[in-house]
Amino acid sequence: MREWTFENDNGKCPQMHKAHAYVECWEEMKATNTGYLLWGMVGTGKSYFAGCIANALMEKEISVCMTNFALILNDLAASYKGRNEYIARLCGFPLLILDDFGMERGTEYGLEQVYNVIDSRYRSQKPLIVTTNLTLEELQNPEDTAHARIYDRLTEMCTSVCITGENFRKAKAQAKMERLKTLLNGKEICL
Ligand SMILES: Nc1ncnc2c1ncn2[C@@H]1O[C@H](COP(=O)(O)OP(=O)(O)OP(=O)(O)O)[C@@H](O)[C@H]1O
Ligand SMILES: [Mg+2]
Repeated sequence: MREWTFENDNGKCPQMHKAHAYVECWEEMKATNTGYLLWGMVGTGKSYFAGCIANALMEKEISVCMTNFALILNDLAASYKGRNEYIARLCGFPLLILDDFGMERGTEYGLEQVYNVIDSRYRSQKPLIVTTNLTLEELQNPEDTAHARIYDRLTEMCTSVCITGENFRKAKAQAKMERLKTLLNGKEICL
């Protein structure tokens, strides 16, 4: 994720100015406990957008933790005793970025842990940035109270930004295929 920077930006994300603005107004964001909820289709650059903010702030010597719920749930399952310390550590970072929110859907254990992390961060009064494939409509219409309690906190802490644009992974795959075709040109291999 070190390469997810403003310098390497392909200029195709229509919302990228909001990432620049976040970094420029960091002191204000911090003071007002303001984050982003980045939502949109698969491959549109939500994680890249968040990574740019993380890398730019780290260049200013601000500690940022960018992780995802798959890792968090693994870590929590591995250390039952150290759970509180683990969550407290996540809440110690001036900026926390949770990538891929919503992937834990379906398991009660996952949901409970997600609530613990989000609620602790909420109480720490420090900003949080979240990326998700959930739609704003899904976030505004939670299926039950357990989800409502999580989504409610998130929407208070984070301003929602819809990341639009193309699926960059498809474009990358296409470019890779073209390169390979050129490389293998003349050889008897069928792609
Ligand atoms: N602004 C950008 N400039 C250059 N490359 C980008 C940009 N945005 C995304 N990419 C590249 O496109 C690919 C997909 O981006 P990313 O992983 O951020 O998408 P995503 O919206 O988080 O996808 P998902 O919903 O699956 O989590 C990655 O390889 C990433 O490096
Ligand atoms: Mg992502």
